[in-house]
Amino acid sequence: MNISIFGLGYVGCVATGCLAQQGHRVIGVDPQPTKVDFINRGQSTIIEEGIAEIMAAQLAAGRISATTSSAEAVLKTDVSFICVGTPPTAHGHLDLTAITKVAGEIGAALKQKTTRHVVAVRSTVLPGTREKVIEILAQASGKQAGIDFAVVSNPEFLREGTSVKDFIKPPYTLLGSDCDWATEAMKEVYKGIDAPVITTQPRVAELMKYVCNSFHALKIVFANEVGNICKQLNIDSHQLMDVFCQDTKLNISKAYLKPGFAYGGSCLPKDLKALRTIAHDHYLQTPVLEAIERSNEYQKDIVFKHILESGTMNIGFIGLAFKAGTDDLRDSPIIDVIERLLGKGFNVRIYDPHVHVSQLTGANRDYILKRIPFISRFLTDDLAKTIEGSELLVVVNRDAASEKALAGVGTKRIYDLTGVRSAAISGPNYSGIAW
Ligand SMILES: NC(=O)c1ccc[n+]([C@@H]2O[C@H](COP(=O)([O-])OP(=O)(O)OC[C@H]3O[C@@H](n4cnc5c(N)ncnc54)[C@H](O)[C@@H]3O)[C@@H](O)[C@H]2O)c1
Repeated sequence: MNISIFGLGYVGCVATGCLAQQGHRVIGVDPQPTKVDFINRGQSTIIEEGIAEIMAAQLAAGRISATTSSAEAVLKTDVSFICVGTPPTAHGHLDLTAITKVAGEIGAALKQKTTRHVVAVRSTVLPGTREKVIEILAQASGKQAGIDFAVVSNPEFLREGTSVKDFIKPPYTLLGSDCDWATEAMKEVYKGIDAPVITTQPRVAELMKYVCNSFHALKIVFANEVGNICKQLNIDSHQLMDVFCQDTKLNISKAYLKPGFAYGGSCLPKDLKALRTIAHDHYLQTPVLEAIERSNEYQKDIVFKHILESGTMNIGFIGLAFKAGTDDLRDSPIIDVIERLLGKGFNVRIYDPHVHVSQLTGANRDYILKRIPFISRFLTDDLAKTIEGSELLVVVNRDAASEKALAGVGTKRIYDLTGVRSAAISGPNYSGIAW
C-alpha cells in the first residue's frame, strides 16, 4: 500500500521503517527539514535498536522517502498516519496544536484527491479527538466522512528502547473505527504483523492507551511498595514477586478487572489493613496501598448517591452477601449503603437466594446478630415480592433466577452493580454503576 506518515519523531520514524519493511511504500512528512533529510538519506531520526539498519535497507529498496509537503504525501498515498506530538499544556490538558494543524493540512490536500483516503490517528489523544479531526478534515476538504475519507483511531503501544520489536510484535493492533472500508484498509496495512487485530468503538481505542499506561504505572508503584515492605522484613522481594506472577489465575489475569461495585468480605479488607499496618510499623509510606480503601469507599458513595437521587424511596436489593454464590455477610459493602439509606428513611427490601437468617451459622451468624441485627428485618425469601414492592431494583449479586425475573420487570428501574445487562435487561430504565 501507499502510506504517508505525519511526524517523524519516535513513533513516526519507527512506523516509517517498519511499515516499509512490511513491503509498503512509505512517505514521511515533517516540517523539520533536517528530519526529512535524514529519512531521504536512509537514516533514522531517532536512536533505537535496529532502526538504523531498517532505514538504510528500506531506502535501498526504494520504499521510503520524506517531504515537508503534506499535499504531496496525501496525493501519493491511500492511508495517512498522524504521529505528531501531543504534549501536556501548563495546566495538564492535551496540547492538540500539532494534531489540528496536521488535520487541516491533510484536509486541504484531500480537496484535490479523487480517491478515498483513510486517516489513522496514531498519536495518543483523549476520547473525542478523532471526532475533532473528522470535523477539521470535512471543513478543509469539503468532503464527507465515511464516504470520501474516514478516520480510524489506531493507538501505538511501543516502548522507547524496544520500539522496533514492539512494532513488529505488539500485544494487538487496535482499530477504533465505525467505517468498514477504512477498517479493511487498515487490516491490509497490518497484514504482515503477527498480532490479533481488535476492532472497537473509536472512543474505546482512544482511551485505551491512557488506561494501559496508568495500569503500568500502578503496577510499578505497587511492586515498589511491596519491595519496600519486603526489604524491612528481610524478604527477597524479587523472589516474592516472581512467585506472585506465577499465579495466572487470580494475580496476572483478567480476574478482578471488570468495573463494578466495591470489594468486601472477610479477607481483602483485613489483609490489606494488615499489610499497611506492618508498613506503618516500619515507618514506611505506602500511598498506593492506603488509597485502595478510599477508592473502595468512594464506590459505595457512588451507589448511595445514585439511589438518593433516584426520586423514589422504595428500593429493592437483589443480593446482600459480599459476593454471589455465598451467604457470607461479613464486610459486605452493600450493607454500608443500606445502613445509610435506612438512616434517611428509605423503604428497603432485600432478597438474596443464599441468605436465610434462620439458616445462618458460625461466624456469619454472629456477625449478623451482633453487628447488623436490624438487617434481618428487611430480608425476605420472596424475590417476586421484592420486585413488586420496589420502584428501583439494585442488582448487587447475579444469579440465574433473579436475572430471569429482572427481564420481566417492565417499567421498574434497574440499577446494576454486576453487569447483568442483556438484550432483555436494558433500555431507558436500566443503568449500570460504571457503564
Ligand atoms: N514516544 C513513545 O514511546 C510513544 C509511544 C506511544 C505513543 N506515543 C504518542 O505518539 C505521539 C508522537 O510521539 P513521539 O514521541 O513520536 O513525538 P515526537 O515529538 O518525537 O515527534 C513528533 C514529530 O511531529 C512533527 N510534527 C509537528 N507538527 C507536524 C506537522 N504539522 N506535520 C508533520 N509533522 C509534524 C515534529 O516535528 C516531530 O518530528 C504522541 O502523541 C505520543 O504521546 C509516543
